[in-house]
Formats: sequence, C-alpha cells, structure tokens
Amino acid sequence: MPANQGPFPRTRFRRTRASAALRNLTREAELSVNDLIWPVFVCAGRGERQPVASMPGVERLSVDLLVEAARRAHGLGIPAICIFPYTDPSLKTELCEEAWNPDNLSNQAIREIRDAVPDIAIMTDIALDPYNANGHDGIVRDGIIVNDETVEALVKMALAQAEAGADILGPSDMMDSRIGAMRDALEAEGHVNVTIMSYAAKFASSYYGPFRDAVGASGALKGDKKTYQIDPMNRQEALRCVERDLSEGADMVMVKPGMPYLDLCREVKDRFGAPTYAYQVSGEYAMIEAAAANGWIDGEKVMLESLMSFRRAGCDGVLTYFAPRVAQILNG
Ligand code: PBG
Repeated sequence: MPANQGPFPRTRFRRTRASAALRNLTREAELSVNDLIWPVFVCAGRGERQPVASMPGVERLSVDLLVEAARRAHGLGIPAICIFPYTDPSLKTELCEEAWNPDNLSNQAIREIRDAVPDIAIMTDIALDPYNANGHDGIVRDGIIVNDETVEALVKMALAQAEAGADILGPSDMMDSRIGAMRDALEAEGHVNVTIMSYAAKFASSYYGPFRDAVGASGALKGDKKTYQIDPMNRQEALRCVERDLSEGADMVMVKPGMPYLDLCREVKDRFGAPTYAYQVSGEYAMIEAAAANGWIDGEKVMLESLMSFRRAGCDGVLTYFAPRVAQILNG
C-alpha cells in the first residue's frame, strides 16, 4: 500500500476544492484591477477613431478621445496606461528628430491626460521605431543599428516625455547602456521621481506583428530586430540584461512577450525581487481574439486565465490590451 494510504486516502486534495468558499480560501494568487497597465494607440486629428484590423476591439484614438478613454480607465480603477503613437509617415526621418519634439503626438497626449486625469499613471514607450524612416528602434548608419548615437537620441526622447508629465518611462529599444544614460539625465534635470520600467528581457519575437500594424511601422521596417533584441532561446542572457538594467537604475523590469516566456517571469521575480511585469503582446491578444471569434475557445475565460498565469508566475502586473474588459469583469 502507498505510504500515504490507510484504508482510505488521507490526503485528498479534493477536500479544499469541494466548494467555492474553500477554493476562495486556498487560492494562492489573485488577479486585481491594480495589476493592469493598458497600452493604447494615439493618432492625429480630433474625434478620430481607427480600428486596428489585426487587433479586433483595439482602436487608435485621437488625443481628445484618448483623454476620455483614460478617464474611463481611471474610473475602472486601472492604475496606468501606456501610450504608443501612430506617426504620420511624413514625419519619419533617418535621424528620428520627431521622437524628442516636445509637441509630438505622444507628448501632446501625455500633457492632456496629465491635466484631465491627474491620478492615472502615464507610461510611455522609448524607442525610435515610430519615428524612423526605416522602422528600426535605433538610428541606422550603413546598414548598422548604431548603439551609442541611438542612446543619445533616446535620452532626449526620455527627457521630453518626463517634461510632458510621464510617470513611467518604458525603454523598449534594447540598446546597451540606455538605462544608465537616461537615469543620469533625469537626475541632472531634476526629474528624480520619474520611474523607469525597463523592457529588460525583451525577445526578438514574431508575436509583435499586429502592434507594428497598429503603430504603422510594419511597412517601414527593413529586416529584423535580431541585432538588438534577445534570441528567444537565451534565458541566461535575459537574466543578465535584467541584472544590468536594475544596476543602471531601472525601478521596474519587464519580460516581453508574456505567455511564451513565463519561465523568465518566475525566474526574474525570484532572483531579483524587483517589481516585475509581463507584456501580453499584440500577437498573444490577436490569437485569443481570433480563436474566440471562431467559437473555438471561450474568449472571456481564456482572457482571464491568461492574465492569472502572469500572477501565478510571480509578476506584479501585466500590460494587456484586455485591461478595460478585464477591469469591468473584476469590478463585477
Ligand atoms: C517598440 C515596441 C514594440 C512593442 C512595444 N514597443 C515592437 C517591436 O519591438 O518591434 C510590441 C508590443 C506588442 O506587440 O504588443 N520598440
């Protein structure tokens, strides 16, 4: 007879699963509205609303409508939104000057949301791709994405965003030494409480396709991003990137994409104990939506389960396009 067995099973895991009350009492992790960061896309104009074909349910909004969306998000209890601009192709250049224009679309959106909804945290994206004629996250010289010159441009971009009122800067570019350079510049300019959430473990993933449509970078991008984003097979390298970014002054770190990289979420949280976030990226969103639209899965349940998995894996929060829908459900 097995060691744990008398005439009857002594350990019955089903005892604590037998009622909703016991299940609630023994649940190890919770998903709450406080865990959500909502990525949003902003476009030019007024009263402008443009559906993103590869992300059903997601729209680019002009600044005035985005302010209303931010107000609703705040009303739902969502603590933060993250702004991504759709830049007019005529503003894209090889040196990406629009990226640090104090009045670019993203900075306009930051200012207006800051004024209208002062209590929602505003996160930004720092990378040159929305402003780059060739779609890359860094400046390209003779076919090479140059690191140090890109970092100088990113620092200017970071300062413009901090000046506009951003609370959380999100460098997603994967250049080396950008976190330290930004942190020094922020301190020197008196932005001592602006936080940095580093896209630290960001992989060269094929799950970003729909996002590149949403920000209008797909057509422009020549080649791939493998010389700066991490190889999907490299776990140790990702951990070293997280360690480096924390040592350079990142306050929070991100793993991206999310669900295919849950192993890293767990490991980053256990190893460093820093505030850790996952980005459930556009391709993950699109896959769930597509299967749900076909009736192959229960979209709402899978959405919730996908987000719970990040909490189980140790994440403090998750960037998700589902944020308002989930918040509505969680609020009952
Ligand atoms: C820009 C950036 C990307 C995403 C966030 N910031 C795309 C990329 O690196 O090509 C992807 C987000 C998503 O897929 O939802 N550097």
